[in-house]
Amino acid sequence: MFIRKLEGKKEEISGKEAVLNYNRKAKMRKYIYKMVASKVLKLDVNKGITLELGIGGGFLAIEIAKFIPHLKIIGVDLSYDMLNLAKKNIKEAGMEDRIILCKADIKELSFKNSSFDLVISHGVLHHLADPIIVFNEIARVLKENGRFLINDLRRFWWAFVLSATKFGVITSIRAAYTTKEIISLLEKSNLKNWKVQKYLFWQSIYRF
Ligand SMILES: C[S@@+](CC[C@H](N)C(=O)[O-])C[C@H]1O[C@@H](n2cnc3c(N)ncnc32)[C@H](O)[C@@H]1O
Repeated sequence: MFIRKLEGKKEEISGKEAVLNYNRKAKMRKYIYKMVASKVLKLDVNKGITLELGIGGGFLAIEIAKFIPHLKIIGVDLSYDMLNLAKKNIKEAGMEDRIILCKADIKELSFKNSSFDLVISHGVLHHLADPIIVFNEIARVLKENGRFLINDLRRFWWAFVLSATKFGVITSIRAAYTTKEIISLLEKSNLKNWKVQKYLFWQSIYRF
C-alpha cells in the first residue's frame, strides 16, 4: 500500500524562515551526514573532483571533506539563501579551500562533459518534478567509470506513519518517489550501471 503522492514540487529552499528551519533540523541530523559520508568513503574515490547537487547548508560536503582529504568538492544549489548558509558553515569548518560553491540549476549544469570523478546528492530528488533530467546530467558530467551516490527519502506507507508521529517530514515523504518509481525513472535515463538500495525512510542510488 502506497501513500498518495504530493502534487506540485517546490525546488529551491529559500526565505529566512525556511532556511532557519532547515538549518535547525540539519544540525540535529548531523549523524546522518556522517553516516552518508562513510558510505561515500566506500565508493573508493580518494582524489579528484566531486560534484554535490543541491548542497544546501554544506553539511554533507564538510563531512566528506573531513573523511577524504584529497578530494575537492564543488557544491551547487539554486538558492542564494542556502549558498550563504553553506558559505558560513564551510568557513566555520575551515574548509574554504576544499569546498567551492556555485549557484546553478542541477537540471542544466554548465560543466563540461566528463568533468567529475564523483557525483553526490542527498535529500534533493523529492524536490524535482522530473528526476530523469538530473540523472541525464549526472551521466553527462561524470567521467567514464565515475561513481555516484544519490540519496533521498522514499515514499512508503509506514514511513509516512512514522514520520507523522515522530519526525515531522510528512510533506517531504509525500513528495518523495517510491523505489519502484525511481527504478523506472532510472531505466529511462542515460545513467548506467546503477544499483538501488532501500532503507527504512531512505533509498540510495549508487555506482561503485
Ligand atoms: C532538503 S535540501 C537538502 C540539502 C542538502 N543536500 C542536505 O542534505 O542537507 C534540498 C536542496 O536542494 C536544492 N535544490 C532543489 N532543487 C534544485 C535545483 N533544481 N537545482 C539546484 N538545487 C536545487 C534546494 O535549494 C535545497 O538546498
